[in-house]
Amino acid sequence: MRKPLIAGNWKMHFTVPEGLEYALQLRRDLEPYSAVVDAVILPPAVMLWEIANALRGCAIEVGAQNAGWEDQGPFTGEISPKMLAGWCHYLLIGHSERRQLFNETDEELNRKLHAGLRHRLKVILAVGETLEEYEAGRTAEVITRQLNAAVYGVELRQATELSVAYEPVWAIGTGKTATPEIAQEAHAFIKSLLDAPVLYGGSVKPENAEELLAQPDVDGALVGGASLEVESFAAICETAARLSRS
Ligand code: PGA
Repeated sequence: MRKPLIAGNWKMHFTVPEGLEYALQLRRDLEPYSAVVDAVILPPAVMLWEIANALRGCAIEVGAQNAGWEDQGPFTGEISPKMLAGWCHYLLIGHSERRQLFNETDEELNRKLHAGLRHRLKVILAVGETLEEYEAGRTAEVITRQLNAAVYGVELRQATELSVAYEPVWAIGTGKTATPEIAQEAHAFIKSLLDAPVLYGGSVKPENAEELLAQPDVDGALVGGASLEVESFAAICETAARLSRS
C-alpha cells in the first residue's frame, strides 16, 4: 500500500488550550510511527497557527477544514488559501457538511481547488453520495459529477498534490460505516477517473480501521468523531502503520 494518510477532522470542537494539549499528546504518541504513516490534523481555523507551531519539527502535519478562493478582500468571516500558504500543509474542501449546511456548490469547490493548489496546499477533496442517492444506485454518477466539476481546468502536474476523500454522506457521524467492499468499489471507481490517493471517511474508528485500510484502493482515512479522542485517533494511525509495514 502507499504510505497511508490519516486525517483527523475536528470539525467545530475544542477550545484553543484543549486543541494544543491534544496536539502535544499526539506528537508524543505518534513518534514511533512517523516514518510509516502520514498523520494530519484539521483543527478549527482559530487555533490552526498555534497548533502548527506546536507541531513544528515533527512529522504530523496540519490542515484547514475550509477556505475561500480569493487571496484577500471584502469577504467577512472568510480565510484565504494565501493566508495558509507556507506553514499550513493541507486544505480540506467539499466536506458534505459544507455542501449541505453552507450550500457550497461544485463550481465554488472548483475555485477553492484551484486557489488551494495555486498556494501549494495539499488539497483533500471530499466527495460522496447521500442515502437517497445511494439507494437509487446513483453513487457512480454523483461521484463522477462532483469530481469532474471540482477538477475542471486543473493541470495534471498540479494534481499531484490532490487527494480525494470518499465519504458516503449516510456514513458520516451516523455510526453506519460503508462495508469494506462498498468502500473498495467506490475507491476503485474514483481511481478509474483520477490518479490520486483516496481516503475513506464515514464512522471510521479503531474497531473498523483495519478492515477498511486493508482494502487495496483505500489509501487512508478521514476521521471525524473518532479523532476527537487523541487515543482513538492515535490507535487508527497505529493500525495504518502496522498495515503499511506488513
Ligand atoms: P465521522 O466523520 O468519522 O464522525 O463519521 C467523518 C467526516 O465527517 O469527515
